[in-house]
This record gives sequence, C-alpha cells and structure tokens, in this order.
Amino acid sequence: MARPEFHLFVCTQRRPDGHPRGSCTAKGGAALLDAFAQALIRRNLQGRMALTGTGCLGPCQAGANVLVYPGAVMYSWVEPADAEVIVRQHLLEGEPWVDKLTPSELW
Ligand code: FES
Repeated sequence: MARPEFHLFVCTQRRPDGHPRGSCTAKGGAALLDAFAQALIRRNLQGRMALTGTGCLGPCQAGANVLVYPGAVMYSWVEPADAEVIVRQHLLEGEPWVDKLTPSELW
C-alpha cells in the first residue's frame, strides 16, 4: 500500500451509559466513520486516503471528533453530513474547514 496523502482518525470510543465523559460513539461516531468511508468510496479515494476508527482522542465533550494527518487538524461536533465537506475541502482542496475545527482551548 502506498503511503496515504491524508489519514483520518474517527473516534469510535464507547463508554457505559452515564459515564461522565460520554463518548463519541454516543454522539454518532460509528455513523460518522461510515459516512467518511462512503465519501471516500464515492470519489474513489481509498488508495490515496486512509481511514481508521480509533479510541478516545481527548476532547470527549466536543464529540464526535475527527483527527486528520498530516497537520494534526482536529474537527469537533462532526456529523455524518460533514464528511463530504471535509473530504472535498480539506483532503482534495487543501483547505481545512474552519467552521468545524476543534477550539484551541480543547486541542
Ligand atoms: S470519546 Fe471521542 S474524543 Fe473522547
């Protein structure tokens, strides 16, 4: 496999109901991972971009969170419909989507 141009890490951390930190899965992380997979497939980008479901990225209160390398760019409060925008604007056009960037006090 060639080295990917971008690697997306989508938080799919689970925690028990009532856990004080909550979890990205409780905020749609699994659906978000699927939305990114579909967005990459639709554009035939699987060979250029890597996608991984991952454990906790840190700012649980802002989930669902997505971390993009290179650049360590984190997006928060990401919803499945946002996957298309991030893939197009960040991965293909090289412009991170500032509206969804994790606030600096969290990341
Ligand atoms: S559970 Fe997703 S960032 Fe912590």
